[in-house]
Amino acid sequence: MPVANVMGMSNSLRVVGVSGSLHEPSKTTALTASLIGAFAERAPVESRLIEITDIGPNLAGALRRDQLPARVEEALTAIEEADLIIAASPVYRATFTGLFKHLFDFVGQYALVGKPVLLGATGGGERHALIIEHQLRPLFGFFQALTLPLGVYASDTDFDGYTITSEALESRIDQAVSRALPIVDRSARADLSEYVGTW
Ligand SMILES: Cc1cc2nc3c(=O)[nH]c(=O)nc-3n(C[C@H](O)[C@H](O)[C@H](O)COP(=O)(O)O)c2cc1C
Repeated sequence: MPVANVMGMSNSLRVVGVSGSLHEPSKTTALTASLIGAFAERAPVESRLIEITDIGPNLAGALRRDQLPARVEEALTAIEEADLIIAASPVYRATFTGLFKHLFDFVGQYALVGKPVLLGATGGGERHALIIEHQLRPLFGFFQALTLPLGVYASDTDFDGYTITSEALESRIDQAVSRALPIVDRSARADLSEYVGTW
């Protein structure tokens, strides 16, 4: 049976990944791309990967959204219109990178209400794995987004250079995406528009 029928998705799912890394190449970007790929294997997906390395220099100097250049504004619109966001950052000084937060500071306060968000992070070791629960989840809780129950954390030992080599990480990615899809499917069918302006 085609995946579209299994998931009941006839239209492509707009998946937008955001990698908060300041480096290229990047483990966080590799993790984000791998999560996008895992969704694309299971459902019809139209994907977009937004990298801070790409838009960061244009983002960093802006204090207000109306000061942003068109390509950053366009990235923000993609985030706001996505059916699913994969939000991932490296751990810097025990939290997400400053520019990752700066990007989301420009996202409309109510633009992510009810939107599924899969959380991801990479760090040098395991010590800061709770960034997912203690930093990323509250940020998207502020937006009233639907953070998915399973996030994915990876550390340096899960990679050879910038390639994922750990089977344990591969299976965490698989499990997170399998658990996410039914929730994403239900959310894509839900129409929250009647509530806009009342929350
Ligand atoms: C400025 C800086 C601060 C960092 N702080 C932490 C940290 O607090 N905890 C941690 O586990 N790793 C820390 N790291 C390591 C990175 O999180 C880790 O190498 C990450 O996988 C890099 O991701 P990237 O390849 O996507 O840039 C830090 C790295 C840098 C450059």
